[in-house]
Amino acid sequence: MQREKFGSRLGFILISAGCAIGLGNVWRFPYIVSEFGGAAFILLYLLFLVIFGLPIMTMEFAVGRASQKSIAESFKVLQPKECKIRWHYFGWVGMLGNYLLMMFYTTVTGWMFIYFIKMLKGDFVGLNPDAVSSQFGDVTGNAWLMIGFMALVTVLGFFVCSLGLKKGVEKVNKVMMLALLAIIVALAIYVATLPGAGEGLKYYLIPDFTKIFNENFGEVMFAALGQAFFTLSIGMGSMAIFGSYISKDRRLLGESMTIAGLDTAVAFVAGLIIIPAMFAFPTEGATPAGPGLIFETLPNVFNQMPGGRFLGAMFFVFMIFAAMSTVIAVFENIISFGMDKWGWSRRKSCLINLGLMLLLALPCVLGFNVLSCIVPLGLDAKGNPTTIMDLEDFIISNNILPLGSLVYVLFCTWDRKGWGWNQFLSEANQGRGIMVPSKLKVYLKYILPIMLLAFWVWGIVSFFI
Ligand code: ALA
Repeated sequence: MQREKFGSRLGFILISAGCAIGLGNVWRFPYIVSEFGGAAFILLYLLFLVIFGLPIMTMEFAVGRASQKSIAESFKVLQPKECKIRWHYFGWVGMLGNYLLMMFYTTVTGWMFIYFIKMLKGDFVGLNPDAVSSQFGDVTGNAWLMIGFMALVTVLGFFVCSLGLKKGVEKVNKVMMLALLAIIVALAIYVATLPGAGEGLKYYLIPDFTKIFNENFGEVMFAALGQAFFTLSIGMGSMAIFGSYISKDRRLLGESMTIAGLDTAVAFVAGLIIIPAMFAFPTEGATPAGPGLIFETLPNVFNQMPGGRFLGAMFFVFMIFAAMSTVIAVFENIISFGMDKWGWSRRKSCLINLGLMLLLALPCVLGFNVLSCIVPLGLDAKGNPTTIMDLEDFIISNNILPLGSLVYVLFCTWDRKGWGWNQFLSEANQGRGIMVPSKLKVYLKYILPIMLLAFWVWGIVSFFI
């Protein structure tokens, strides 16, 4: 069967950027930044994006484009016949990563829908800060409400995928991404004009290195590493698949730079909205940290702002677009597994995975209420009990993504034992655009994998000690 292709280069860029831009940029990035020392943390994170993110994304695209397959089959197609390493077994781990990500991502996306509706209905109007914050606990404590919205997100995502690559995934994501970019710029301009926003800008933009170079450096670094991998969705083949849908007329490093640039810009501007807004409208007892930032602190901020109900609703529309573009992109990867491996039709794969995903997402939902007695990772840094979602996030962001990235790096640089450096280089450099210089071989073949492994081991050790 002829492989489907994107209708345009813009479609490819926006879908890949849509896969990257998501909760990681707007929900995870600002709270991690504020937890680990503002601008100094951003610099460390940017460094990881450049030294790890760009080459690994380029490798994923190259493997996808050369094999014309998703992670289900790409390693099998490219690994040399005589090769003893069974690279293709990693396809299963990568798929597990895609499922795990969606097992909690669909729940958090559901929260965005719930908060959008709450903002529109004016549920927060006239409430004091404690009452606003406590609504988040009411939401997470209500299992049926969360199951309902998780199911809505899952059904919507698979429905768009079932319409086809061009007519569904490309068309819908393009519209959402363009709208998202317009909304975020408008919100950032508005917040910058608020009196008192300057303090927040300072906190966000002036680096304070004492906050990262302290006894917790291992933990800070691990957080920056996890964030860099999470935000680009690299290491589990969710970018590779989009490589399999493009032509050979563009070099892949340039494409990766555009996508990572868009992703970083959105994360950065999200911080420009959230952190100065919090300084402009400080709420007693609220700190610019923790996952509750968006659901407890921000509704309080919007409550005090002139026109806040409308702005808050716009903010949650923006969040819905960011999250749904990732859900659809990762679901596309999930359905391609059955299509590539067992020749299922798109429709069949959507239906089977819809059922599976609805079941797999339940532990995350129930971990906040019925199963809240399960505290899989003990207490977090703030002394709060961790949830099943924290465990799923930990497995994927801090383990599967960095180790999966290591697999891609070794596969693309090991001659004979893997796909090999020359094959990678020639695939990545086909077409017009920015080349991967051949002198990067030593860095990519030796230094990058050693750093990846060393940072991962260091991070795991600091996490548990
Ligand atoms: N890359 C996705 C995000 O940032 C997972 O949300």
